[in-house]
Amino acid sequence: MTTRIPIADLSPAALLPAAADAFPASAASGLPPDEALPALFDVPLPDIRELDALTSRTPPERAGATNAYYFLEEAPAVFPSGIKVPVTRPEPGWEAFSAGQAIPGQPFDVHAVRNDFPVLAETVNGRPLVWLDNAATTQKPQAVIDRLSHFYAHENSNIHRAAHELAARATDAYEAARETVRRFVGARSANEIVFVRGTTEGINLVAQSWGRQTLRPGDEILITWLEHHANIVPWQQLAAQTGAVLKVVPVNDRGEVLLDEYARLLGPKIRLVAFTQVSNALGTVTPAAEMTRLAHACGAKVLIDGAQSVSHLRTDVLALGCDWFVFSGHKVFGPTGIGALYGKEELLNATAPWQGGGNMIQDVTFERTLYQNAPARFEAGTGNIADAVGLGAALEYVERIGIDNIARHEHDLLLYGTRLLSEIPGLKIIGQAAEKAGVLSFVLEGRDTAEIGSALNKAGIAVRAGHHCAQPILRRFGLEATVRPSLALYNTHADLDALAAAVGKIARTGKAG
Ligand code: ALA
Repeated sequence: MTTRIPIADLSPAALLPAAADAFPASAASGLPPDEALPALFDVPLPDIRELDALTSRTPPERAGATNAYYFLEEAPAVFPSGIKVPVTRPEPGWEAFSAGQAIPGQPFDVHAVRNDFPVLAETVNGRPLVWLDNAATTQKPQAVIDRLSHFYAHENSNIHRAAHELAARATDAYEAARETVRRFVGARSANEIVFVRGTTEGINLVAQSWGRQTLRPGDEILITWLEHHANIVPWQQLAAQTGAVLKVVPVNDRGEVLLDEYARLLGPKIRLVAFTQVSNALGTVTPAAEMTRLAHACGAKVLIDGAQSVSHLRTDVLALGCDWFVFSGHKVFGPTGIGALYGKEELLNATAPWQGGGNMIQDVTFERTLYQNAPARFEAGTGNIADAVGLGAALEYVERIGIDNIARHEHDLLLYGTRLLSEIPGLKIIGQAAEKAGVLSFVLEGRDTAEIGSALNKAGIAVRAGHHCAQPILRRFGLEATVRPSLALYNTHADLDALAAAVGKIARTGKAG
């Protein structure tokens, strides 16, 4: 995590001069300053050689015997059965689709980025679409749309099984996507990456495999008050199944985890700590590496929910030190129904699978079954092959733009949006953590959140209004719902101008248009 200007310390009055310095063109002309990167923050621009290295297509790791079916090699692949499969590389065409408008090493240009996302050209209710519902799901760049289309047009097959050309292409594409996920999260080995439906399934997988295998009555599971229902309910279910006890770390009025309370709760009975890296309802960035270190010091395992962090912050599972990290593809410009679970290889291999079926076995008799090592042991049945490939394309897209460029752009937007919204009479921002990413949750005195969401829709502005699948944290603030604009790399200062103008009008008249 980079050092940032703490949002909580910036009153609107303090922000104004900072914004004028950062956006001199904007201050003079009133135009959104998206093209100039302000020098407010200390996120270094990645070196062009680093970007080149990131964007070069590293061949997928060959993992020896367990990946013997991984057969798209230069030489004909030989199956254990002795069948030889002639190998054809996938047609090079799709890589050209993936190039997008963004040029590695060039300054971040939000307007070029927007051109990569066709849906952003839509109109809604006669107005240009302003997509500020990114915490719910992100839009897809043409590179992802094209990659999916290419898969179905040229590669579609089941994977790992058949001795034919399309099986080779599909397997190659799927395993290349696994390698891309590995690189994106900074894992040591592609064997540590399990494809799942999304964050929810990843958490349930850990609960129902490692959790059921490990926890005993009286053991404790620790989560925080910030959690999404997906990081609460699976642990409640596990507690009911095993007799374990669920405990919750409180947060302060800004929505920050109380670290002293956290340290106090970390007793000898804690077996697992599970927490989010970024709160979906408030945007709080948790001190994930520090929390992980403290949990490990008391012998607990750590699962980090990265659903809301992966599109905003650099992910580095080794620096975090966590035992598992989960995220959803659709929150990071990939398809829905696909996500990934990172787990330390030894831990995954020491954990019995939660689902049985094809693909995850080494050998089956009626008396017993031998399982594959990870990742196959956790991928029973035919998975979401095409969307895994699409996820790989999405992560490569993010790598091309540069996650540090994205983080910096979004942080500018967050400061700008915070200032604009704070100036609206009766508006209260919910969640004022010193470290925030991506989210501007608010309530407006005298106005119902659903009414605001629907009025904004009439103005072409998409936000989520509701409880955001995080009822406990909203109730911590005495609320059942907020309006939640949420940011992504393609949002502009003009989007936030439109939002603030519409919310201001709703505050005055009850209507946005
Ligand atoms: N988890 C998604 C959200 O926060 C659906 O909106």
